[in-house]
Amino acid sequence: MEIRKSSQPKVVTIFGTRPEAIKLFPVVRALSKRSSLQNISCVTAQHRQMLDQVLDITDIVPDYDLDLMRADQSLDELTGRVLAGIGQTLDEIGPQRVVVQGDTATAMCGALAAYYRKIPVSHVEAGLRSYNIYHPWPEEVNRKIIGTIADQHFAPTETSAAALRKENVPEDQISVTGNTVIDALLATVQKSQEKDFLDADLKALFERLSGKKIIGVTSHRRENFGDGLTNIAAALRELAGRDDVALIFPVHLNPNVRAIMNDALGGLSNVAMIEPLDYPNFVALLDACTFMLTDSGGVQEEAPALGKPVLVMRDTTERPEGVAAGTAKLVGTDKDLILKEAYELLDNERYYDAMAKAHNPFGDGQASERIADVIEQSLVS
Ligand code: UD1
Ligand code: UDP
Repeated sequence: MEIRKSSQPKVVTIFGTRPEAIKLFPVVRALSKRSSLQNISCVTAQHRQMLDQVLDITDIVPDYDLDLMRADQSLDELTGRVLAGIGQTLDEIGPQRVVVQGDTATAMCGALAAYYRKIPVSHVEAGLRSYNIYHPWPEEVNRKIIGTIADQHFAPTETSAAALRKENVPEDQISVTGNTVIDALLATVQKSQEKDFLDADLKALFERLSGKKIIGVTSHRRENFGDGLTNIAAALRELAGRDDVALIFPVHLNPNVRAIMNDALGGLSNVAMIEPLDYPNFVALLDACTFMLTDSGGVQEEAPALGKPVLVMRDTTERPEGVAAGTAKLVGTDKDLILKEAYELLDNERYYDAMAKAHNPFGDGQASERIADVIEQSLVS
């Protein structure tokens, strides 16, 4: 791509996976409105199809697409490929600032490649900590590496800002902005009200399952591969034995997840294992479900905003705000605990009502504009 020869500072936003694309499309949009800077986007395509699914619902056409995904990639090969690919791209562009989001291999390598070139780094969704380097793995360490390098830390909440202060990050480098996922969610809910995005297959599925309580499921975490996913699958199988419920499970494209879930749940009439949904359709599932069973980070932030209880299939969470608000509960990957809490939500109305309250500790939908303001000010002043 030909980058304009201009005196305006260049800001490169780097992302590669589904959640980064969802959480960064509002930031890229906000930056694109700032005429004082050149807004450049670079995707590693650490995820190919799931990234494209998000790009397709936005107006963003990446300036650089490194197309780096390989089937069943290991952390070593992924990290090596992404670091080298981003490094080469930064050399070509010569930006004044790099923006990364969250905790993926792409985000960590984006920050590291920038650091190797002494380019300052902005971290969106900074300060999330579980204080356990194996849960989530490898994300907890990725976040700490990025936090060490960044000089602009966009903390979604006061809790995450406090974690950064505890690590002696200077106060003038921290901005509490809200989480950009709420910007994405609110924009998507509003668009869905203006235009019907519901996919025909999902609509037919909702109609076929009407009268049943829908439990939305997602699961993909690397630290759960093996026993964790096997236990989750066994809990889902037992839950699906009830006639009054149906599980809708858009299955992550990771082959390690698909193999276990297909073995355990394939052919069960009460389980709809479907392909990953595009974001507006996933939001429709969030809206339609009775509650969510998930190990996802983003879903823990979105479901409370829509008043949907979330059972979090992790031992720890770096997003304690949902738990504190009473809309999320940690159930780990213990089959009995998952079932106990799921049955409470299904059978105990008071228990359900106590968790099903709309609560949004994660932001007001303006995070991306705040982030763009700080970035712009630092570059033009
Ligand atoms: C990655 C992130 C994780 C994030 C998750 C979001 C790392 C180390 N992990 O995990 O933090 O929560 O994304 O979903 O960065 N695949 C496809 N098509 C796709 C996407 C994935 O086929 O569109 C398959 C490929 O075989 C790929 C595998 O899934 O090799 C794993 O993808 P990868 O990005 O390495 O890890 P995730 O488990 O998705
Ligand atoms: N999501 C989606 N389609 C799906 C499943 C999830 O658009 O079929 C969205 C979800 O709303 C959330 C994000 O993807 O915003 C979460 O991504 P994922 O669970 O892959 O990663 P994590 O949040 O755990 O990093």
